Amino acid sequence: MIIAANLKTNLTRVETNKYLEEIEDFIKSKNLTQEVLVFPAMSSLDSNESSIIVGAQNAYATKDGAFTGEIGLVHLEEFAIKTILIGHSERRHILGETQEELVKKFNYYKNLGFKIVYCVGEPLEKREAGKIEMMEYISSQYEGIDTEYENLIIAYEPVWAIGTGLTPTLEDIQDIHTELKMKSTAPLLYGGSVKVTNAKEVLALQNVDGILVGSAALYAEHFCSMIEFAQELDSK
Ligand code: PGA
Repeated sequence: MIIAANLKTNLTRVETNKYLEEIEDFIKSKNLTQEVLVFPAMSSLDSNESSIIVGAQNAYATKDGAFTGEIGLVHLEEFAIKTILIGHSERRHILGETQEELVKKFNYYKNLGFKIVYCVGEPLEKREAGKIEMMEYISSQYEGIDTEYENLIIAYEPVWAIGTGLTPTLEDIQDIHTELKMKSTAPLLYGGSVKVTNAKEVLALQNVDGILVGSAALYAEHFCSMIEFAQELDSK
């Protein structure tokens, strides 16, 4: 399974390195074989020789150039980073990235062979508008995306569940994941208020191939427990 941590705008470089070390020690001590991804803040990116895959939360679709405030491929290459998160709801809804911009970014990093974690998910008003409208909205986030890309991972994250402590019911997660699996056979993660207390039951659902965790992942020991849950389920 794939267990991913989105550290967002948290942890300095020193703190991130300590965090990664703690997780790597745990993985080694327990011989865990799950795929573990960590997305640190941009200025916390660093060289990484652990088994953890470190990815960027964002980068511009460029090698370098005049794009104030952005980073490009050269900055990722400096640390041998080949993984990127695209389409996270905070970038779509707070930072205003459009589907068109995301597609451009997706294609740029796809052509470079990056592992891409591409996020989709509906805001509350779409969920409340009923299943059809909700699924139409989520489908529109697949527009222009190569759903067959071999290094693609999709994360379903309902916007209203991110950082709120609210989650869909387990039945809802399974139901939506089953529908989304028809759009792409890429591994499908669930994200949105995954905690150490609900991670196991979410991971156990059919068509859930892993989790993308924000706030709860900031506690290294909680994140480690989630990796261990995945291992237990895998060995059943
Ligand atoms: P959360 O965030 O776990 O804090 O809800 C998840 C995410 O934004 O990826």
